Amino acid sequence: MAVACVSDRFLRACRRQPVDLTPVWFMRQAGRYMPQYRAVRARHGLLEICQNPERAAEVTITAAEELGVDAAIIFADLLLPALPLGFHLHFNSGEGPVIEPVLRDRAAIARLPESLHGELGYVSEAIRRVAGHFPDTFPVIGFAGAPFTLASYLIEGGASRQFAHTKRMIFEDRGAWALLMQKLCPMLVEYLSEQVEAGARAIQLFDSWVGALGEADFRHAVLPYNRLVIEAVQDLGVPVIYFSTGTSGYLGALRDTGAAVLGLDWRMEMSRAWSELRGGCALQGNLDPLRLFSPAAELKSAVRHLMAQSRGQTGYIFNLGHGILPETPVENVKNVVNWVREFSASAL
Ligand code: CP3
Repeated sequence: MAVACVSDRFLRACRRQPVDLTPVWFMRQAGRYMPQYRAVRARHGLLEICQNPERAAEVTITAAEELGVDAAIIFADLLLPALPLGFHLHFNSGEGPVIEPVLRDRAAIARLPESLHGELGYVSEAIRRVAGHFPDTFPVIGFAGAPFTLASYLIEGGASRQFAHTKRMIFEDRGAWALLMQKLCPMLVEYLSEQVEAGARAIQLFDSWVGALGEADFRHAVLPYNRLVIEAVQDLGVPVIYFSTGTSGYLGALRDTGAAVLGLDWRMEMSRAWSELRGGCALQGNLDPLRLFSPAAELKSAVRHLMAQSRGQTGYIFNLGHGILPETPVENVKNVVNWVREFSASAL
């Protein structure tokens, strides 16, 4: 078993400080591609894992140690806040999550509770356990869905391709959308503050589906709320990684969120992102997760190509452009960790 690295290179990179080696971790590093996770999952439902701090901590730690990465993301789910908000949440195999009832009118939004009342305390308890397991220099990453992506699940009731109901609310009833944001943002700040209090050293906000909006709409309907959440979290002294997909057309607007780090999907060449952003923030990404199915030689050269684009930049974190997929060969993921170390060492 690889031993998790004792180094604060991940946090240093978040702050755009020089590092000994390029830090690396993976979105969805604990998941079904890993036999140890499948063994736990055979005995427990996804929510049963998330809601049991001992189990969630074990899954988190096992994945980080098995891969030898530079950070552990807490095992939880973006949709957990739906529960204290009063929704039913099911993960039906193969069909993705179902959230009931759908949230489409102002009266229902007005009835949403204002606070979590500690109901997601199991997430912070799991963070406390993971942070206690690792040395101080090994960071635990907390996370939540960003306001748009979380709202989209509540409004659509599950996965969506067009986000038609969400966009209709934004375009048809701006007041309803503003009211929903006013409910969700303080709740997210409360949730993330609990995570930081428990020992999370960085927070990733997943805005997985915000690329459904064009730049002007992003700036009007999303950016002010993201800024609010990100600023509140960063005021606690931890960097925020703002991850989004389908948004490479408006990198400048992403930077205006104020996040210390932007997580990019695979659509954009990293070198272009560096030159457009001109050092305004650290960058994380962006190997296509499907690349992990390539034969070793091709995968290695894809990693080399990606790393070459950040040569000479401070504040680069190696990751994928989205989460690891279920059938991904574990060996390939481990190889990538080794190649990232090899290539960054040879650049010194
Ligand atoms: O290792 C880690 O990254 C931490 C664990 C983690 C999970 N979900 C556990 C999980 C994280 C970071 C998430 C985030 C999450 N959840 C996102 C944002 C990330 C992204 O990919 O953009 C989203 C959109 C969700 C909502 C969600 N959870 C969906 C759409 C699904 C179903 C998709 C599927 O693969 O079945 C889930 C289920 C889920 N959450 C799984 C895991 C490991 C897989 C299913 C399982 O074990 O039953």
